Amino acid sequence: MLKVILLYWSKSGNTRKVTDAIKEGLEQLDARITVKEMKKSLDVDYFDYDLVFLGFPSYQWLPPNPVREFLKGRLSADKKAGRVKVGSPRVPGKHAVLYCTYSGPHTGKNEAIPAVKHAGQFLDHVGFKIAAEWYIPCEFIGREDLSTEGRLGDIRGLPTESDLEKISANALEIAKGCMPKESSKRG
Ligand SMILES: Cc1cc2nc3c(=O)[nH]c(=O)nc-3n(C[C@H](O)[C@H](O)[C@H](O)COP(=O)(O)O)c2cc1C
Repeated sequence: MLKVILLYWSKSGNTRKVTDAIKEGLEQLDARITVKEMKKSLDVDYFDYDLVFLGFPSYQWLPPNPVREFLKGRLSADKKAGRVKVGSPRVPGKHAVLYCTYSGPHTGKNEAIPAVKHAGQFLDHVGFKIAAEWYIPCEFIGREDLSTEGRLGDIRGLPTESDLEKISANALEIAKGCMPKESSKRG
C-alpha cells in the first residue's frame, strides 16, 4: 500500500480546495492518505511516506511563514539524523509533488516559481525525487482588482471544477507511478 502525506497551508481556501482534489484522486488507489496542515510545531517525518504532496500559496514569491518554519524545522531534524548528504543522493522510492496556488497579479507565474523552487529544495536535499511541480492560478480572494486587472487577466472563480478534476486525475497518475514494486505487481 502506498503511503502518502498531503502537507498544506491555506489562508483563504484555494490551496485547501486543491488539497481536497488531490485527496479525492488518491482515494481511487490502494493508498494510506494522511493530511496535515503545516505549522512550525508539526512533527512529521517525510521518510514515513512514499509520496509527499506539499502545497501552499505564494506570498511575495515564497511560501508563507508557517510553511517556511515547518520546512526549516524538518531540515534541522534531518541534518541531525544525518540525512542531508553531500550530493543529495536519491533515496529509492521517495517522491514529492510541489503545488503552489497563486494569483500572479504583477508578473504572473514568475511570482510562484521561486516559492516552489524554494520549498522543493527541502525535499530534494534529503533525496526525494521531485515528481512534479504544479502552478495553479487562483482568484485573489477579497481583491477584485488583483483578480481582474493583473497579468493573468480575469481569474475570478479559479480554480474551476474542471481544474480540480484535472488535478485529481494528475494526482492519481503520479501516485500510480510511485506504487512500491510489490503492490504494483499485486495490483
Ligand atoms: C498576504 C498575501 C500575499 C500574497 N502574495 C502574492 C504574491 O506575491 N504573488 C502571487 O502570485 N499571489 C500572491 N497572493 C495571492 C495568493 O497566493 C493566492 O490567492 C493563493 O491562491 C491563496 O491561497 P489560499 O487561498 O490557500 O490561502 C498573496 C495573498 C496574500 C493574502
